[in-house]
Amino acid sequence: MAVQFSQETYRQFEEVLTHYPTKRAALLPTFWLAQEEFGYLSPEVMEYIAQLLDLSPAYVAAVASFYTMFDKEPKGKFHLQVCTNLSCTLVGAQQIVECLEQKLGIKLGETTPDGKFSLSEVECLGSCGTAPVLQLNTGDYYENLTPERVTQLVEELAKQA
Ligand code: FES
Repeated sequence: MAVQFSQETYRQFEEVLTHYPTKRAALLPTFWLAQEEFGYLSPEVMEYIAQLLDLSPAYVAAVASFYTMFDKEPKGKFHLQVCTNLSCTLVGAQQIVECLEQKLGIKLGETTPDGKFSLSEVECLGSCGTAPVLQLNTGDYYENLTPERVTQLVEELAKQA
């Protein structure tokens, strides 16, 4: 069956449209709805969004590719996104990445074989004053990180998985 929003998500999509002057302007919030519903923006999902918003699939794919917060492939249950921009790098982001790679047994851009954890690097998360920072999934920030703190975080998340 072709990809399509659930009734509830479609209702939210219609509501989102009322906040924008054109369908095109609602592209990013539609991405959020789609990511919430489908987990990531697959080519089929992007084609569906293109139909909904009267856009070309190529345009939708190009916009999606610009934003790291929109996943273009399946991610683990816990997606750890470490900021590696300047402020974070100056206070140890690389050590955080190395610690997570070692703890999880994967490299940046990979997902653990059990599908529990994905590890990515991202651009500035807008929290430079509390660097180094990582974002968990689409919401929670973990700030002033140390290798000890991220080790503890992974252990806590592993218990929930
Ligand atoms: S550089 Fe990492 S939050 Fe800004």
